Amino acid sequence: DIERDEQIYNSYEELTSQLPINHDWPLFSLQHYQSFWIPARFVPACMAIQSHFNPRPSDILLVTNPKSGTTWLKALSFATLHRRSFSLSDHPLLTNTPHQCLPYLEHLFSHRTFPNLNVLPSPTIFATHLPLSLLPQSALRCRIVYLCRDPKDTFVSMYHFVDRSMGSFAEHTSTTQGLDLSKTFQMFSQGTSAFGPFWDHMLGYWKESLRSPEMVLFFRYEEMMEDPVSRLSRLAQFMGCPFSMEEERDGVVEDIVKLCSFDNLREFEVNKDNKGSFEGKLPASSFFRKGKVGDWVNYLSMEMAEKLDAITKEKLHGSGLTF
Ligand code: A3P
Repeated sequence: DIERDEQIYNSYEELTSQLPINHDWPLFSLQHYQSFWIPARFVPACMAIQSHFNPRPSDILLVTNPKSGTTWLKALSFATLHRRSFSLSDHPLLTNTPHQCLPYLEHLFSHRTFPNLNVLPSPTIFATHLPLSLLPQSALRCRIVYLCRDPKDTFVSMYHFVDRSMGSFAEHTSTTQGLDLSKTFQMFSQGTSAFGPFWDHMLGYWKESLRSPEMVLFFRYEEMMEDPVSRLSRLAQFMGCPFSMEEERDGVVEDIVKLCSFDNLREFEVNKDNKGSFEGKLPASSFFRKGKVGDWVNYLSMEMAEKLDAITKEKLHGSGLTF
């Protein structure tokens, strides 16, 4: 019922307009909703997800803090789940960005009408940046893969992403002349960043992965980089589509790792797009920068690094999660 959906979305917008708003975050305004800073344009979608996202137990949810390797995780899980449907020479990832292959829930619920997701083939993989506490209870029925990344590298990645995307996307025209690193660092450190506080986001899923390891698989970008083949095997097993012995023998795991590697994906025309024609105008190329571990040393002063390390230590204290 389109009219009824429209009315409900109007009420979400009404609620959204009453939330605290921060216009200082470059790229887009953030709103404080249930203890997290959500990009303002996604808050109504977020409310819609909370009330109407009802995944099937077979569905799979990929969750990340922005800039933690979402693009990579999307490519890997898509290629793994659908490996029997596509050949490597004619693969959807050759002509679609990983984000086109696997949409974000925040986008699916942004169209002012509730999508009927249960008609999609089962299992379906969805991606989201929403923190656990903002997901509906029903989301805990399906398997969740959480990918996190070292806070210093995530910050540096995010800084560059925002800087590169601003020309094509900025909601605030005043921020188009290059991004102030120390000001952005300040905000990030204080927890004011898209889907932040960064640490609270990780902790929610970390704790859930300890409580229900069979439902939440917790990965780190760094360990995926170190041993992608064994991590991908684990991912396939968790998603319910383990690699067979024949597949392992035939090098299928390695083939998928190679298909989805940074060096491979970034060379496809579709991922080189600079024009910002995709994802609400974010350029596809801005999702592929360096793909390295430890690149923060090239951008953060020792003082900044120490500050971020201290915050990380304090925030994660006693959780068992360390960086
Ligand atoms: P850098 O900016 O450090 O290079 P997200 O996908 O969550 O937006 O994260 C983007 C980060 O993941 C960027 O990090 C990007 O280069 C890196 N990345 C993108 N594709 C990757 C891949 N296939 N393998 C490894 N890293 C990848």
